[in-house]
Amino acid sequence: MSEWFEGSKKGLEKIARRRGLSYVLFELIQNAWDTGAREVSVVFVPVDGRPLVDMIVTDDDADGFKDLAHSWTLFAESERKGDPEKRGRFNLGEKLVLAVCESAEITSTKGCVRFDDEGRHVGRKRTESGTVFEGRVRMTRVELDAVLAAAKELIAPPGVKTTIDGKRLTERAPLKVFEASLQTEIANTEGFLTARTRKTNVRVFSALTRMDPETGARRAFGFLYEMGIPVCPTGDQWDVEIMQKVPVNLERNAVSETYLRTVRVLCLNELFDQLKPEDAATPAVQDALTDERIKPEAVNVVLTHQYGEKRAVIDPSDPEANHRLVTEGYTLIPGSAFSKPAWENIRSSGAAKPSGQIMPTPKPYSTDPNAPNRKLLPESEWTDGMKNIASYVEQIAKKLIKLHVTVTIDKGLIGAGWAACYGSGELTFNLASVGYDFFEHGPDARVNALLIHELAHEAEGNHLDEKFYKALQRLGAGMTELALSEPELFRNHGHKSHKS
Ligand SMILES: Nc1ncnc2c1ncn2[C@@H]1O[C@H](COP(=O)(O)OP(=O)(O)OP(=O)(O)O)[C@@H](O)[C@H]1O
Ligand SMILES: [Mg+2]
Repeated sequence: MSEWFEGSKKGLEKIARRRGLSYVLFELIQNAWDTGAREVSVVFVPVDGRPLVDMIVTDDDADGFKDLAHSWTLFAESERKGDPEKRGRFNLGEKLVLAVCESAEITSTKGCVRFDDEGRHVGRKRTESGTVFEGRVRMTRVELDAVLAAAKELIAPPGVKTTIDGKRLTERAPLKVFEASLQTEIANTEGFLTARTRKTNVRVFSALTRMDPETGARRAFGFLYEMGIPVCPTGDQWDVEIMQKVPVNLERNAVSETYLRTVRVLCLNELFDQLKPEDAATPAVQDALTDERIKPEAVNVVLTHQYGEKRAVIDPSDPEANHRLVTEGYTLIPGSAFSKPAWENIRSSGAAKPSGQIMPTPKPYSTDPNAPNRKLLPESEWTDGMKNIASYVEQIAKKLIKLHVTVTIDKGLIGAGWAACYGSGELTFNLASVGYDFFEHGPDARVNALLIHELAHEAEGNHLDEKFYKALQRLGAGMTELALSEPELFRNHGHKSHKS
């Protein structure tokens, strides 16, 4: 069949240079690493006085090129796309490399091919074993320095001696290696790359120091790697290397958000016990926190780093508990600190509880629908003393807080520690706590102290709020004024002067 397409070398060169010359080098190295080579060497020879560099990549794979035509045939069926542990799949990389070369020669076990101004020349020269790629690339010295710096980012496969200008790529010791199921792509019988989930090793390293493109600062700034080749920046504290094909785009420089989140969750679940406090708020960790696959222990460690051991979630339903916990040295976490899915994980893991659950402010009546209803003492059963105090409370309240306050007496089902409680214009005495005798001495100091306290709750429910103590001051002063201006109000209710 006659071919539909023709290629433009210049156009392909522009596509290759768009990603940068470092990636051109990476294409050659990944092709060599995809073979059975035990040694791979890269040498750069700058051409004197010209912005040209000879790039020579040699490997010692016994087989060499199976089909030399694949070096110039764009998008032929890649023999590597059926193997998830090999990097090649598009049958494009080598052509991108050739596109940036002024001239090139590939010599392998089955022959050689030379590319120059006059075109392509297949020759008979061959190697005993392995392949030598020699290409003359238009490259300034500044560009060469950048390529050399990028080459240091590669992670050589264990057991493959890889040298750049004679220097062996330094082996990096992983912080952790673990097995995980991850999405990959494998060619099906018809040669179409299809997504598949497969078990693979994940190797995690401390991230190299790189420039954070957002801030311009140099810091540990992670990359995602596919079998030694950098794919895309993550900015995480880790460089993460996946030991099988990563589902990348044609440019090999991006993965989906879902894939990246999966990798982050896996890493945090494996490495949370090594997490540094300063790394708890990184995008990697915060992203992982939103994922339901995160381990509860990991959530706990992250929150401990961010908020300390003593931490509570701000509880709008119990402001007093919030105050009390702060005085006990707790750090309060505002609702805005995390997204909804992260809160769900925090809740289900129990990594942080609302203040009201840690130190509930006692409530006179339970809001629990199964709690017994309050049992009031019917007014028909009130003693004269009770009636007297009720009338006193009503009159004092009218003067001091300008409200009609009704009095009720509970037989003791409200919380035991409660002498009384106040809410919505109703003051309830707890008979079980104050006792019958409380009502028998008129407005004495005990009655007045309790009254001032309860009426102050008209201003503020929270005992620790400034508004509450200011209300206490106001009511104390107000009652003094009242005692001086209307002493009969007190005397009429049986107040006994202590003066003889
Ligand atoms: N050093 C090498 N030794 C042996 N064969 C090689 C070597 N380099 C390239 N090849 C062969 O040339 C083919 C084309 O390489 P190329 O990089 O263009 O495509 P690929 O590696 O298959 O896929 P990708 O575009 O994803 O890199 C490879 O599939 C492989 O068969
Ligand atoms: Mg390739």
